[in-house]
Amino acid sequence: KTNRETIEQVCARYGHRADALIEILHDVQRAHACVSDEAARIIAGSLNISRAEIQGVRSFYADFSTTPRAPQRIRLCRAEACQAVGADQLAAELDRAGTPHEAVYCLGNCALGPAALIGERLVGRATPDRLAAASAGSGQ
Ligand code: FES
Repeated sequence: KTNRETIEQVCARYGHRADALIEILHDVQRAHACVSDEAARIIAGSLNISRAEIQGVRSFYADFSTTPRAPQRIRLCRAEACQAVGADQLAAELDRAGTPHEAVYCLGNCALGPAALIGERLVGRATPDRLAAASAGSGQ
């Protein structure tokens, strides 16, 4: 699928509603790790709003970037409590998916294991999907 198709699908999912712009931008950011100028153009056409409007929203929220961000480092807790709830398995899944990560030992979030740190953000009950999305800067 081309970018255009996936972006138009996102807009369609929200019924091409201009008041869903922020949700649409979030979805595009999640899927493409950024909201590029081309994406902004496609969204503007699809929602029938001006590109300036999109640029205004895009630049207002720190969540959105215009070029893909470097994925943030994933630090995965490998200490006992997290191991007991599947940290090793999670690490193996990340390895299989080719997602780089490093081991840390107890993030003080044992009750919500497996625990991980993405940049400065603590993620509890981590899954490969949630870690990949958080690392790509989707704001989740
Ligand atoms: Fe993982 Fe404490 S053991 S956060």
